[in-house]
Amino acid sequence: MVQHEAVTGSEWWRSGVIYQIYPRSFADSNGDGMGDLAGITQNLDAIAELGVDAIWLSPFYSSPQKDAGYDVSDYKNVDPLFGTLADFDSLVERAHELNLRVMIDLVPNHTSDQHSWFQQALAAAEGSPARNYYHFKDGRGKDGELPPNNWQSMFGGPAWTRLEDGQWYLHLFDSSQPDLNWENPAIHKEFESILRFWLDRDIDGFRVDQPHAMGKAAGLPDHPYVETAGAGFIEEEPDPPMWFQDSVHEIFRSWRRILESYPGDRAMCGEAYVLPLKKMALWVRPDEFHQTFNFRFLDAGWDKAALVSAINESFEAFDEVGAPSTWVLNNHDVIRHVSRFGGDFGRTTASDGIGPDAVQPDNALGLLKARAATLFMLGLPGASYLYQGEELGLPEHTNISPEHRQDPTFTRTSGQRVGRDGARVPIPWMKGGTTNGFTSANSAWLPQPESFADLSRDQQTSADSTLEMYKASLKLRSELGLGEGSFSWTSNDAVLSYQNKNVIVAHNFGEDSAKLPVGQLLITSAPLNSGKLPANVTAWVKV
Ligand code: GLC
Repeated sequence: MVQHEAVTGSEWWRSGVIYQIYPRSFADSNGDGMGDLAGITQNLDAIAELGVDAIWLSPFYSSPQKDAGYDVSDYKNVDPLFGTLADFDSLVERAHELNLRVMIDLVPNHTSDQHSWFQQALAAAEGSPARNYYHFKDGRGKDGELPPNNWQSMFGGPAWTRLEDGQWYLHLFDSSQPDLNWENPAIHKEFESILRFWLDRDIDGFRVDQPHAMGKAAGLPDHPYVETAGAGFIEEEPDPPMWFQDSVHEIFRSWRRILESYPGDRAMCGEAYVLPLKKMALWVRPDEFHQTFNFRFLDAGWDKAALVSAINESFEAFDEVGAPSTWVLNNHDVIRHVSRFGGDFGRTTASDGIGPDAVQPDNALGLLKARAATLFMLGLPGASYLYQGEELGLPEHTNISPEHRQDPTFTRTSGQRVGRDGARVPIPWMKGGTTNGFTSANSAWLPQPESFADLSRDQQTSADSTLEMYKASLKLRSELGLGEGSFSWTSNDAVLSYQNKNVIVAHNFGEDSAKLPVGQLLITSAPLNSGKLPANVTAWVKV
């Protein structure tokens, strides 16, 4: 049975809870229907009160917003949609006053097609240094009319787009997101300067977007099993030529050295979708990333066997290299856990979201399980990530009309995949009006579902609200030092339980109420039933 020893007195990122802010949907300060940096600054108190250690900001950089800001046209500026560099500085200052660290998104695999590097490349000749910033290639076929290889875009369709001059450029995501050529040392220099630019502005670290995509196998050979894997990979098969190439590790080492040359514990979290976790552990060796997202845990859903094996695999893999696991249940790319657990849905199902024509989730059951899952997660030692709105128990918006949809996945697949907008809806602050306090405008960039009104932050004051459960558990987690704690399983029957320090965390996967572990009850995710732990409920008990 897996055992994990407590790690005490360690750096914050080993045990911290990090709250993801999706700027366009957090709070709007200037009444244009779009969230912005000043809106975040004004509402940071609420996040500090929640009891988290840090925030991570999704991209706010200059961008045509073709992929909600993950298409950056200037890495050293703020998009006017979100404010100015001065607004950013005020945000960091306020966050630090509130003892919140600030991590920002770094998007190194691709730029926007509007970035000056790409514009210069377009204007330059084939084979020029400007084109060498990206992957430009001649096509196959008689007149080069076929793409250079069989790679597919993650958002649907081929990963290549042809220019008027006949050459093709590579984009693993939208055609507006050309992939950078990390074989070119000039790119390394550019990014070192970008890292320093933000570190000099006193940020505490980076969440690095798609780091597993940055290296490409020499010669860009075909994906050997594209028919079965599409744009992705299959764990048991050999690595495809666009994912997890060894060449990337030296880049992360050089970034780590930069972070370490600054005072304080600055940290990098890689959005590295690398499996199995034994392989991912190589990404968090002591001189590489500090953390990577544990998507194995997220993907386990709320299935007991999958959960047990994900947790075992995590401790086995990460302990081997002395890295913390980062537990995570939500982000802006996956179906919100309330709705995922309210039906038979995977992280994105087949469609990246739940559309109006799909079987709809049972959000009441989903909320019960989601609260229990969160409590189960927050008892685990290691770092944890939360995504804005999950502390309110928000469900996925499953009924967004086509004209409101913005995710490129929707358009690139002619609506066959509804995309990720349902998890990105502006969050409700104060019940009332069309947006429940998100904006003073009549409408927000994406409409909210009706159910958001009663879930507004100002409505969640009673002890049994989801918000209060998050606050109380985060407070306990911090007081008891659970983030730095230990781990061992204590039962694997209908009730699944583990012990962290002197706390037992138990979840009832069975159908009937079950006996609680003996000890002092600290918190539950839902009321007990005559002193027993009901089905789908988690409890923390001090022993
Ligand atoms: C990451 C982001 C996602 C984005 C993609 C391309 O997965 O989380 O939102 O679309 O990278 O940048």
